[in-house]
Amino acid sequence: MSIDTSQLPEEVICALKQYPDFEPLECNTSGANGYVLIGKHNILGTNVAIKIYYHEADEIDQEPTYISKITHDNVLRVHDARKIDTNCSCFLTSAANYGDLAKYLADYNVSLPLAHALLCQLLSGISALHGKPNLLVHRDLKPENLLIHDDKIVIADFGSVRRINETTQKAPASRHSVLYRPLEAFGPEPFYNFSSDVYQAGLIGFLLFGGKLSNDLTTYMTRAEKSHLSTISDVVEQSRFVDSCIYNRIRAKKLINWDSLPFYIPGNIKKILKTATSTIGKRYTNVSDFLRELSHVKYNMPDWIVNNEGYELRNWNGAYYFIRSEDNTLLKKKKSKDYRVDNQFSGESPSAIFEQLKARIGLP
Ligand SMILES: Nc1ncnc2c1ncn2[C@@H]1O[C@H](COP(=O)(O)OP(=O)(O)OP(=O)(O)O)[C@@H](O)[C@H]1O
Ligand SMILES: [Mg+2]
Repeated sequence: MSIDTSQLPEEVICALKQYPDFEPLECNTSGANGYVLIGKHNILGTNVAIKIYYHEADEIDQEPTYISKITHDNVLRVHDARKIDTNCSCFLTSAANYGDLAKYLADYNVSLPLAHALLCQLLSGISALHGKPNLLVHRDLKPENLLIHDDKIVIADFGSVRRINETTQKAPASRHSVLYRPLEAFGPEPFYNFSSDVYQAGLIGFLLFGGKLSNDLTTYMTRAEKSHLSTISDVVEQSRFVDSCIYNRIRAKKLINWDSLPFYIPGNIKKILKTATSTIGKRYTNVSDFLRELSHVKYNMPDWIVNNEGYELRNWNGAYYFIRSEDNTLLKKKKSKDYRVDNQFSGESPSAIFEQLKARIGLP
């Protein structure tokens, strides 16, 4: 059913008037800088999204300008763009049927092969941005800015995109999303380069494979830092202080809790994610190197998926295994048969059962 848009700002109403065949069904106001309306295009017969955003009056390179240069399956396509006011514009794109990756990860368990495929797609989309003649860095890759359509990841939100300076190979650092900001984007001479997008893609890979990051930044602060924060009254100062705490955490290599990855993630995948999220020098310098390493681990990759009851390994040399969390038992079956408990395995936790299974059936 159509939503009531009469309470939205004048510019939004004005933008919608330009699209009389658009029937708004959802309004996303989570963005800092505008509105995204999802709805049905009654002539195209498909769902589309209209993003209405504010910008500087004299800004030439705007979000749709960047997107329109790129035709790639994993980069959002812009179908139409219009100016609403001197400092407000809008553009129309296809709507992603699963919404953004943050919502997708909250709603679904991603199998190991799907996580691998989505990460490869993300890197492929980033390489289209980075490649000549575009030389663009996204600078704000995070789950909320990546969309999922069917089984495909699509890079969106080009609000922070910049072109790399060909001489310095750098762009100014973005101050967006401190949690996803690479180390080089902090400090007295912050900058951003192609490998900074690699870092953010590495963090997204970590999340796709089941690692956990908290959006509540105070979880990364020490007790002393939290108590200092409570003495700061100015909101801008508060946010500056929190940023400095996250910076310290990243510098100490303590932001990412590798133990939060599920126990079944193979060591070679962990190693790749660690390289992608290292500091410059140790990190992949470009997405092709990252992608190449990932393609090497595709062969022999176990098809693990988690659900509320346990951990399932599907079709490993024709057999299926299920580690049941409730009683730490291993169940086994052939394809079309039913699962039966295998009493040869016992342990105090699913990960203990996993270690026995790993040794027995030669898992990576
Ligand atoms: N094409 C789309 N299909 C489905 N959902 C979308 C689409 N575009 C945006 N969204 C939703 O709207 C949210 C906000 O969009 P987006 O990230 O582009 O804007 P923003 O964060 O307001 O941008 P900015 O950072 O420039 O202020 C996304 O996180 C996503 O949930
Ligand atoms: Mg966004």
